[in-house]
Amino acid sequence: MNLEALLTARLAPAFAQVAQATVDPAVRRSRHADFQSGAALPLAGPLGRPPRDIAARVLAAADLAGIATAEISGPGFLNLRLTDEVIAAGVNDLAADARLGVPRTMRPERIVVDYSSPNIAKELTVGHLRSTVIGDAIARLLEWLGHDVVRANHLGDWGTAFGMLIEHLGGGDADEITDLTAFYQAARARFDADEDFRTRSRLRVVALQGGDEDTLRQWRHFVAASQRYLLAAYHRLRVTLAPQDFTGESFYNDKLEPVVAELAGKGLLRESEGALCAFPPGFTGRGGDPLPLIVRKSDGGFGYAATDLAALRYRTGELGATRLLYVVGAPQRTHFAMVYAVAAAAGWLPAGVRAEHVGFGSILGTDGKMFRTRSGDSVKLAAVLDEAVTRAAALAPSAEVARAVGIGAVKYADLSGDRMSDYVFDWDRMLALTGNTGPYLQYAYARTRGILRKAQAAPGPIRITAPAERALAVELLGFAQVVTGLTESLELHRLAGYLHGLAQTFSAFFEACPVLKAPAGVRESRLGLCELTGRTLRQGLDLLGIETPERL
Ligand code: ARG
Repeated sequence: MNLEALLTARLAPAFAQVAQATVDPAVRRSRHADFQSGAALPLAGPLGRPPRDIAARVLAAADLAGIATAEISGPGFLNLRLTDEVIAAGVNDLAADARLGVPRTMRPERIVVDYSSPNIAKELTVGHLRSTVIGDAIARLLEWLGHDVVRANHLGDWGTAFGMLIEHLGGGDADEITDLTAFYQAARARFDADEDFRTRSRLRVVALQGGDEDTLRQWRHFVAASQRYLLAAYHRLRVTLAPQDFTGESFYNDKLEPVVAELAGKGLLRESEGALCAFPPGFTGRGGDPLPLIVRKSDGGFGYAATDLAALRYRTGELGATRLLYVVGAPQRTHFAMVYAVAAAAGWLPAGVRAEHVGFGSILGTDGKMFRTRSGDSVKLAAVLDEAVTRAAALAPSAEVARAVGIGAVKYADLSGDRMSDYVFDWDRMLALTGNTGPYLQYAYARTRGILRKAQAAPGPIRITAPAERALAVELLGFAQVVTGLTESLELHRLAGYLHGLAQTFSAFFEACPVLKAPAGVRESRLGLCELTGRTLRQGLDLLGIETPERL
């Protein structure tokens, strides 16, 4: 049962009667009561009455019997306090529901979530963390809500770098490369220093894109080695990307010519300095000149934008997706806005089909600058995860739990702030057992499990007998609203914030209300609250991609 909906249903007719018009009662959670309605305030002007007077008339007309008591506060707010019976009935419904009151969507969509998407020649760095972690949480969330989610790992697996890498490998075995970054850097150094190597590398790219079998074989070997490496990293992070989700840039190779042909046929391309470009209206560069989206480069090759256009056309056209999400850092905002504009002009984003750039800010070091090693290099993801697990060992009873806590702490730190903001990568803060952290939530979950293990009784029906039980129950009833509210906003930090608030409310309940020593009846009811809290924390953390060990 959704309490906002229940209160709204009771207040709306009263507002309509008083205002002689349809009014949204605007029922919200409130610190001053369980819920509050501020809808009387904006009616003062149109009705020519003081808002407190309007609120009083609404109260007189509203049928809240058995559901809530109400009083007028401040300039004309309605403070609504639910009856204990409604609260108890509500949480008992949740306890009986495997989905904790969260409905599956009535309008399932096919949604492509493009995330992680590293350029595969190099090792993963902390720079890949945000897209990978945020994208995976979004995919988990939308899937749980009943959408048909297509994960897309749009790997950079087809760039000019491969000419250089294949030449550097010189017929050797890609499996033997242990340090991808060092290999890449060595190839790069040769490319920069050696004219002859440069020429051979360029010819390799031509051979690769031209379909030369020997070159392709070496390239495939390279890609396979990178994929094995990536899958291991995803597994360690508990990221759900699987081999079938790896649709890299190379996947669109044979779809690039048709894209150019279609765009040209629709009059959307112009030649500019030898390149074929689209100039979507409204995009201008520094001097005010129209900004080009380069579809075919002057050397005849295709670049990043062409591949994105082909991918978009494939996703809406072939896959039939109606929502496309691109979880990519904020600096690529303009690139995607231009791709969407060109795609819309080409008819690949018909009415009802949406493409959204799900941007995010940067990770900063404790000095407030971009997070880098002391020598100024990008920080390797593996090194970060190793350190997280090492540090978490102090909090955990076993190596397996240390892994779940360390990795969970890193992921939670990334997900718990507004994703558009930058955040500071701070070990002490993310691993703290207090505050809005992964370990704090995992600890709260483990605590609920500990109580249930120790109990001699099974959880029973929930009754409200104390204020702290009531507060916890009201908090539990808010889960569905928070989760469904994420469908459009994709603001995962709101779920994190909710779970943190729930853990705090649980902690206050646990302080105030003995569970195991409570009299029979009350004990089973409190065990019921513990169990429901644990299930809610577990489900919420699972949506964020964070594990919940049973003991901590
Ligand atoms: N490989 C790109 C990069 O490292 C990110 C790709 C994002 N997805 C996309 N469809 N363009 O910057």
